[in-house]
Amino acid sequence: MAQVPQPPSIVKLDAKDKVKENAKEKKKEEKEQKGKKGKKNGKENEKLEDVFFSALPKDAQILDEYWVSEPFARVRIISVPERGGGYAYYIDETLLEQYEQKALDKLVAILGKELSPPESSNMEAKAHVLEEARRLLKKYKSSLGKVEESSWNKLQYYMERDLIGFGPINVIMLDPLIEDCSCDGVGHPVYVWHRKYESIPTNLTIVNKASFSNFIIKLAHFAGKHVSSAFPIVDAMLPGNHRLAATYGEEVSPKGSTFTVRKFREQPYSIIDLIELGTLSIEMAAYYWLILESRLTLVIMGGTAAGKTSALNALATLFKPGLKIITVEETAELNIPHENWVQFISRESYGLGTAKLGSIGLFDLVKTSLRYRPDYIMVGEVRGEEAFVLFQAMATGHGGLTTLHAENLDYAIKRLTSPPMNVAPAYIPLMNVAVLQERVYLPKRVGGVPFGRRMRYVWEIYKDGSSKVICEWDPVTDSYNAQIEESKHLADIAARIGKTRNDYLEELARREAVLQWMRDRKIKDYKEVAKIITQYYMSDLFTQQEKAAPTRAQPR
Ligand SMILES: Nc1ncnc2c1ncn2[C@@H]1O[C@H](COP(=O)(O)OP(=O)(O)O)[C@@H](O)[C@H]1O
Ligand SMILES: [Mg+2]
Repeated sequence: MAQVPQPPSIVKLDAKDKVKENAKEKKKEEKEQKGKKGKKNGKENEKLEDVFFSALPKDAQILDEYWVSEPFARVRIISVPERGGGYAYYIDETLLEQYEQKALDKLVAILGKELSPPESSNMEAKAHVLEEARRLLKKYKSSLGKVEESSWNKLQYYMERDLIGFGPINVIMLDPLIEDCSCDGVGHPVYVWHRKYESIPTNLTIVNKASFSNFIIKLAHFAGKHVSSAFPIVDAMLPGNHRLAATYGEEVSPKGSTFTVRKFREQPYSIIDLIELGTLSIEMAAYYWLILESRLTLVIMGGTAAGKTSALNALATLFKPGLKIITVEETAELNIPHENWVQFISRESYGLGTAKLGSIGLFDLVKTSLRYRPDYIMVGEVRGEEAFVLFQAMATGHGGLTTLHAENLDYAIKRLTSPPMNVAPAYIPLMNVAVLQERVYLPKRVGGVPFGRRMRYVWEIYKDGSSKVICEWDPVTDSYNAQIEESKHLADIAARIGKTRNDYLEELARREAVLQWMRDRKIKDYKEVAKIITQYYMSDLFTQQEKAAPTRAQPR
C-alpha cells in the first residue's frame, strides 16, 4: 500500500492544548489589532487552526486500514496503549504543500466570487464546480502559481471535500462502515459509530468556537434550513438523506455547538441482506411474507438505532406487486421498491414562535392517506396522535406497518394507550404481529463483528388481547426458535380462503425455498429481491422449486 503523507493540520499537540493555544493567539492578535488601529481586521479567525487532526501516536497499534478515497484519504483503526488499548478512528488525508494550500485558498476565494450558474439545471453540482475551477485556474494562472497535474488532483480532492462535501467530516461521511458521527462541543473529539468497532473517537477535533458555529450554519444551509442564536436547534435532512441534529453556539449547549449526523444507506437493506446479517431467519421472513400478503398489521419495536426503520424497509421488499403503499414519515428514510407507492413527509411550521403556522404533521398525513385507499400504510415511527389515526385505519381493514420506540411489548402497549398516542386498549389487538428488535452482543462473531441486530421476540396478538411468542432468539446459540406451525394468524388466513393448515405450511416452505434460492444466488439488492418476489406471483419461475420444496414437519 502506498504511503500517504500526513494531513496538513497535524500538530504534535493535544487538542485541548490547541484550544488554549488558539485562545491565547486570539488575545494576542486582538491586542495587536488594537495597537495597529485601522489596519487589516476581521482576519484573526482565518489565521487560527479551525480543525485539528491529531497525529498517529507512535506506539499505536494499527488494527485495520482502508481507503475511503484512494489515493487521497484513508482510515486507520488503531489501538492506543495510552488509552488502555482503546480503539480510535484515524483520518489520514493527503498533505498539501504550502504552495498548493495557497493556490487552493485563492482558488476557493475566486470561486466564491466568480462561480457562474450551471448552463443546465441537471448538470451535477460536482462536475460544474470542478469545471469552473479549471476555467478559473486557467484565467488566473499567473497569480495562482504553477499547478502541476498531480497537484491539481489534490486540489480537486480538497475542493470537492470543502465546497460540495462535508469539509472536515467528509471522510467520515464517505466511509460506508460508519453509521453515524457526532461531536459534543468545541475541543471534544468527533465520535463515530463504526459497524465493526462500535462507538470510537476520531482524531478530529474542532478547536475554534467561531468556525464550529460556521460549520453548523454550513450544514444547516446544506439541508436548506436556518440556524442562528434565535433558532439554535436544527433537525434536518442533509443531501444524501443523512439526518442532521445540531445546536448552534452556546445558546443551549454550554460547551459550544454540537451535532449528530445519522448516515443514510443509499441501498436499503433487503430482506435477504437482513437474513445474511442474522437479523432474522429465512423461516421468519417467509412468515412475514404471508402475514403481509394478507394485510395483517405489524409493529417493529426497539430502542434507538436498533434497526427498526431498516427492518421496516426490508419488509417492504416482500409486498405483493401492485399493492398500494403509502409511507408517512418525518424525514424521508423509507425507500420502497414498488411503483404504486405514495410518499408523504411531514412539514415544519413556517411561523416563528409557538404558532404552528402551516405545519403538517404525521397526524394530518395519515388522515389524508386514508383517502388514497391504500392497501398498506407505513408510518416511519409512531410517536404521537398519528398512532390513533393509524389504528383507526387498521380497524377499517387497511394494512399497517410501523415502528415504535419501546423496549418490550408491555411498554409498547402502555405507550400506545397513553397520551399523546391515545389508542383505545380495545384497538391493541389490531396490532397483529409485534416484533422486538435489539442490538445485542453475539456469542460468536459474525463477519468479524461481535454484535448484531436481532429480532429477539415475535409475538402474535389476538382479538381477546392475549399474546403468544411465535419466535424467540436464543442468545447462547445465536439462532431462532420459531413455532410458526402454531401461528393462529396463519391458520385464520388459511381458513378464510378455504385452505387447510397443511396448505399454508406447504406455502410457507415454498416461500422459504424462494428466499433460500435468492440467498444462494446472492440476490440481495432490494430492487432485485422485489423483482423476484414479483416473479413469484407472476410466473412459473419457481415451479421447479415448488416441486422440489421440502414439506415442513407436521405439527403434532
Ligand atoms: N440488521 C442490521 N444489521 C446491521 N446494521 C443495521 C441493521 N439494521 C440497521 N442497521 C444500521 O443501524 C443504523 C440504525 O438503523 P435504523 O434502522 O435507522 O434504526 P432505528 O430506526 O431503530 O433507529 C443504521 O446505520 C443502519 O444501517
Ligand atoms: Mg428509525
